[in-house]
Amino acid sequence: MKIILLLIVAYILGSIPSGLWIGKVFYKKDIRQYGSGNSGTTNTFRILGAKAGFAVFLADLLKGTLATSLAYLPYVEINPLWLGLCAILGHVFPLFAKFKGGKAVATSAGMLLGYHPLFFLFSLAIFLVFLFITSMVSLSSMIAAVIITLSTFILPSIFPILLPETDGLLSCIAVIVTAFIFYLHRQNIQRIRQGNESRISFGLNKKS
Ligand code: G3P
Repeated sequence: MKIILLLIVAYILGSIPSGLWIGKVFYKKDIRQYGSGNSGTTNTFRILGAKAGFAVFLADLLKGTLATSLAYLPYVEINPLWLGLCAILGHVFPLFAKFKGGKAVATSAGMLLGYHPLFFLFSLAIFLVFLFITSMVSLSSMIAAVIITLSTFILPSIFPILLPETDGLLSCIAVIVTAFIFYLHRQNIQRIRQGNESRISFGLNKKS
């Protein structure tokens, strides 16, 4: 019973539509009506600017971390990843936004932060390297998701400090979440193939 309650709490935490609420409350804008139509970090940066973008990133990240960390409460016996997965499901299918949510990236990162902070930093580094190379958040998210998933199989045996031996659940969830991320980015994939996906600017690249 306690476990079911925690899974529901994790889903509800994930359901908090940060981008939608921050946009509506502070900017009087429904972020879903602008740009890519997504309510996540990238579109918030694009439409509402850096301050709002960082706020949405932090909120989406931390709700995954918080949900995952519920597993560390006393007398709770559940693999934190199940709670992280519920938060991701809440983020993608939010109770408070007619079940239309984000693309799972920031909240999945939050799950990794709650599960194993060093592995989160490793994952973040991979994402940032590809972001610098491609300047496309969507493409970098998908490439990072694939590399992170592969790493869950390889790292425990070659670099256990970054990721100690796991029971296989992390790899299973990584495969599921990666498939999810690709599905949720299907319009981005189309734009990438057509050469008109939005890019971010590092001061060197041209913004489109
Ligand atoms: O996390 C979402 C990002 O990968 C893409 O966002 O707004 O460009 O579709 P967007």
